[in-house]
This record gives sequence, C-alpha cells and structure tokens, in this order.
Amino acid sequence: MEVTVGRILFTEEQIRARAKELAAEICEDYKGESLYLVGTLRGALVWMADIMKEITLETEIDFIVASSYQGMDTTGVVTIKKDIEGDVSGKNVIIIEDIVDTGTTLYKLLDYFKGKGAKSVEICSMLNKPSRRKAPVSPKYNGFEIDDLFVIGYGLDYNQKFRNLPFVGVAELR
Ligand code: IMP
Ligand code: MG
Repeated sequence: MEVTVGRILFTEEQIRARAKELAAEICEDYKGESLYLVGTLRGALVWMADIMKEITLETEIDFIVASSYQGMDTTGVVTIKKDIEGDVSGKNVIIIEDIVDTGTTLYKLLDYFKGKGAKSVEICSMLNKPSRRKAPVSPKYNGFEIDDLFVIGYGLDYNQKFRNLPFVGVAELR
C-alpha cells in the first residue's frame, strides 16, 4: 500500500491563527498561574511550537512518548516509551497533542499525570476526530474538528513519514 498527500485540510496560516486564539484562551483561564506543557512526541512538535510562542504566562515544557499506533491502526494498548523529565506535582499540566482519535492515549495520560500529583490536567489538541472516540476524553482546547479521515503533515505521520509537511492533508491510499 502506497500513501500520498491528498487534499489540504488546514494551511500553516490557518493553524497558526487558531493556535493564537487558543493560547489567548489558555492565558485568560490560567491568569496569575504558571503552566507545565507536556508535548506528545513526535506528532505534537510543530503544534506545540505554535502554541508555546503565543503563551505569555510563566511556562515550563516537557515531552512524553506514548504509543498505541502502528500504521493506520490503534492497538488499544498504551505504552509510555519515554517519560517526562520534570516533576509535575502541584503544577498546571496541559498536554499538547496532535490529534485525539479514539482517545485511548489521552485517557491513559490524564490518569498518569493526576497520579503524579498535578494540580490540574487539561488537553490542547490541534485536531479532534470525535466520531472515532472510544474513551471518554474531550480536549478543553481544540484546534479543529475533522471527519473520520487519516491525516498527515504538520507533525502527523504515516509510518513516520510526512511529518515535515507545512500543512495538514488527507492521506490518500493507492
Ligand atoms: P488515540 O489514542 O486513538 O486517540 O490516538 C492518538 C494518536 O494516534 C495521535 O496522537 C496520533 O499520533 C495517532 N493518530 C490518530 N489519528 C491519526 C491520523 O489521522 N493521522 C496520523 N496520526 C494519527
Ligand atoms: Mg500523538
């Protein structure tokens, strides 16, 4: 099976404008507090950069690698392959995610950070596919909702490729 880039769904300009709006909401919601942003590698890299540059509160960043995917299919089993390096106890954690699909990964991560004593845990996702949801997860900060399509670019991959595309496009099979 070969995958190529199909229709463009969101351009870099659209995504950055949305990141700016969400960052403003975040700054308002956490006024007077500090933040601990945890990016989910590798997909959230580009979106996280957009979000963090627009945040004016005191902010720390960290990364986690959790995985439930192979190719285009979720395996349902979430493994943490690389943990965060800092201490989140008493902190306002915002998980920065590329896309919420079944919700399996984030359901596990929400619990994980609460278990580590975070003061609060929310999600800021670039994309959301609500029609695919299996676990009860709804991101408080959400860039765009999309239909049940497999998308690539702007951090999102198909078998580790296409992450460098400066837009989100639909993966086309042939
Ligand atoms: P979930 O646990 O099913 O919500 O899966 C979330 C993770 O699966 C995301 O962080 C992505 O890494 C990956 N994923 C889900 N849908 C897509 C997609 O359409 N394109 C690329 N990766 C995806
Ligand atoms: Mg991911």
